[in-house]
Amino acid sequence: MKDTKIIIPEKDIPARWYNIMADMPNLPQAPLHPATRQPVTPDDLSAIFPLALIEQEVSRERWIDIPEEVREIYALWRPSPLYRAHRLEKALGTPAKIYYKYEGVSPAGSHKPNTSIPQAYYNKKAGIRRIATETGAGQWGSSMALAGQLFGLDVTVYMVKVSYNQKPYRRIAMETWGAEVHASPSAVTQSGKKALEADPENPGSLGLAISEAVEDAATHDDTNYALGSVLNHVCLHQTVIGLEARKQLEIAGDFPDIIIGCCGGGSNLAGIAFPFIADKINGRDLRVIAVEPASCPTLTKGEFRYDYGDVAGLTPFLMMYTLGHDFIPPGIHAGGLRYHADSPLVCQLYHDGLIEAKAYHQLGVFEAALQFARTESIIPAPETAHAIKAVIDEALLCKEEGKERTILFNLSGHGYLDLQAYADFLEGKLTDYEYPEEKIKEALSRLPVF
Ligand SMILES: Cc1ncc(COP(=O)(O)O)c(C=O)c1O
Repeated sequence: MKDTKIIIPEKDIPARWYNIMADMPNLPQAPLHPATRQPVTPDDLSAIFPLALIEQEVSRERWIDIPEEVREIYALWRPSPLYRAHRLEKALGTPAKIYYKYEGVSPAGSHKPNTSIPQAYYNKKAGIRRIATETGAGQWGSSMALAGQLFGLDVTVYMVKVSYNQKPYRRIAMETWGAEVHASPSAVTQSGKKALEADPENPGSLGLAISEAVEDAATHDDTNYALGSVLNHVCLHQTVIGLEARKQLEIAGDFPDIIIGCCGGGSNLAGIAFPFIADKINGRDLRVIAVEPASCPTLTKGEFRYDYGDVAGLTPFLMMYTLGHDFIPPGIHAGGLRYHADSPLVCQLYHDGLIEAKAYHQLGVFEAALQFARTESIIPAPETAHAIKAVIDEALLCKEEGKERTILFNLSGHGYLDLQAYADFLEGKLTDYEYPEEKIKEALSRLPVF
């Protein structure tokens, strides 16, 4: 019998995170202060982040030690299993070998606790009492709620209104772990009030929820802000995924030819791919594919330029592929992929040709999710299903070309709290939606020019 899961012991939980900034051919351009438009200083960031995370944000050190207290909590679910998708391979009749790292085994059901735990740890050490954050799909909010509970921090979550309505169970999970949850736009912050005055039916967006959380943190001394994706330190924390996968593939005697991850803000893709990208920089033949929804096509249709990270323009300008910070994507079910831009690290690597990108419509994505659930058994999160669609396409290409490539992808989360999306798909209620080019141009035309 060929192995289905490759499991490594707890002692193999990585002791250090990998920082890709030590190896990138070109570093991302510096973040700029929203008012002065000068590079932000650690002092600027200290209003909402603890010093340890600010240091990680700018560090050029290749390896950063993971605190023992964080590793002890990681041990609740890490190392996560690496699976060989024998049944999917067979159903596709492909010569490709498909492996997936299953991050749905975390208590919150996704990769997000890999960073919420260290973020809560560093904030607690810095004497912070409360964390304000946003959530799209609810995955990040529940991960932060969990981390807050474990470290004795209060957590306030601004949850994008469409998800708040579509996903009551995510809200209940957050409340079970002790967090306070507001539908965003909310009447709690100035940014929220302004958005509601302009449009009481505003469905919310990740960018707007970020404005609310940043404003909350900036106006309360005992409160810091935490972000579930995009920033360098978040991508750094997620590298435990790829570091473990490397070890597990070594045991299987394989190395990936193609690495695939869905891309919302870029953190799970970073997590699985960054620990392999240095090999590519050093000449190894390896493709890395970021997969996004056609309804929010940041890498494939956005422009590489400075933009705010949020709708209200409270965050620094970051150099990203963006659709414009006031872009409000349609309410597709993959709430976690509805961000107007991407991590500056992922964007720079994409710009330098080290990462490719693909965009898919949601109907094809859900068909792929069903095929996966009916062969491999796990019901994936709708976000993850984007990656699965690309995996199936690549595996079918291998079949057409008669090539035995090794494909590694990140199964970033399970979909057991997203079953309404599956119900809508099965009942034929979902449609495809491509964001009109004119609307993207219009949103981009409102961006400041540097
Ligand atoms: C399961 C899952 N996968 C992927 C994502 C996308 O985020 P990122 O690109 O930062 O991994 C999310 C975001 O909420 C998610 O919940």
